[in-house]
Amino acid sequence: MSEIKFYYGDAVPLEMHKVRIVQKLELKPIERRLQAVTEAGNNTFLLKNRDIYLDMLTDSGVNAMSDNQLAAMMRADDSYAGSETFTRLEDKVREIFGKQFFLPAHQGRACENILSQVFVRPGTVVPMNYHFTTVKSHIVLNGGSIEELTIEEGLKATSSCLFKGNMDIDRLRASIKRHGADKIPFVRLEAGTNLIGGQPFSLENMREVRGVCDEFGVPLVLDASLLADNLYFIKTREAACKTLSFRDITL
Ligand SMILES: Cc1ncc(COP(=O)(O)O)c(C=O)c1O
Repeated sequence: MSEIKFYYGDAVPLEMHKVRIVQKLELKPIERRLQAVTEAGNNTFLLKNRDIYLDMLTDSGVNAMSDNQLAAMMRADDSYAGSETFTRLEDKVREIFGKQFFLPAHQGRACENILSQVFVRPGTVVPMNYHFTTVKSHIVLNGGSIEELTIEEGLKATSSCLFKGNMDIDRLRASIKRHGADKIPFVRLEAGTNLIGGQPFSLENMREVRGVCDEFGVPLVLDASLLADNLYFIKTREAACKTLSFRDITL
């Protein structure tokens, strides 16, 4: 974020982009909005977009696209096989995450579906820092269950703990021992735990979780949907990471 300084000394933050496509919004009178909420049974999923001024239900696919993103769509190579677009994406994923294998899916919930179908079996348990709605559904649909092992501070609304998305390492180890490693398809760590207000985990905690997974031979799955937010908090709050770049932290 850049700033501009005015003659009277105040610094004003500036957005370093300009918006070139706009969508008209409507602001219905408050009586109509109340009626719409009541008609929807107070369920935000049943509201009609025509009654909404500012949609904050989800971050999924509702943001403006940049000129570079739109231009990339024109460069897309839709060959049936061997597509250049796939190779470009694969190279970028390798560069950023350092992973050898890469399987693209169109959305997070599609990834959850694939992972659950492949790994979750009836009677298995997936330990995680906190669940996300569709994640839990896919695990349960495949006969598994979840166990939430957020640190105790994680659910205290007034706590100023810096990493409330951390997983409780002792409880994780105890859980794997109790169920048996063969009943744990994977351990799931969610970056920027969505349903508890975007709380991050620390890199140190992730390393510890990885250590426990290695100890028991259990895979670790990272739900990176909100990775950017978590990276920001690691860089600004975790002393050992202050001098690292975002790319280094991601790797
Ligand atoms: C933590 C988390 N996991 C999974 C998803 C599902 O991703 P998608 O909306 O791309 O299906 C979301 C969406 O917000 C999310 O926040």
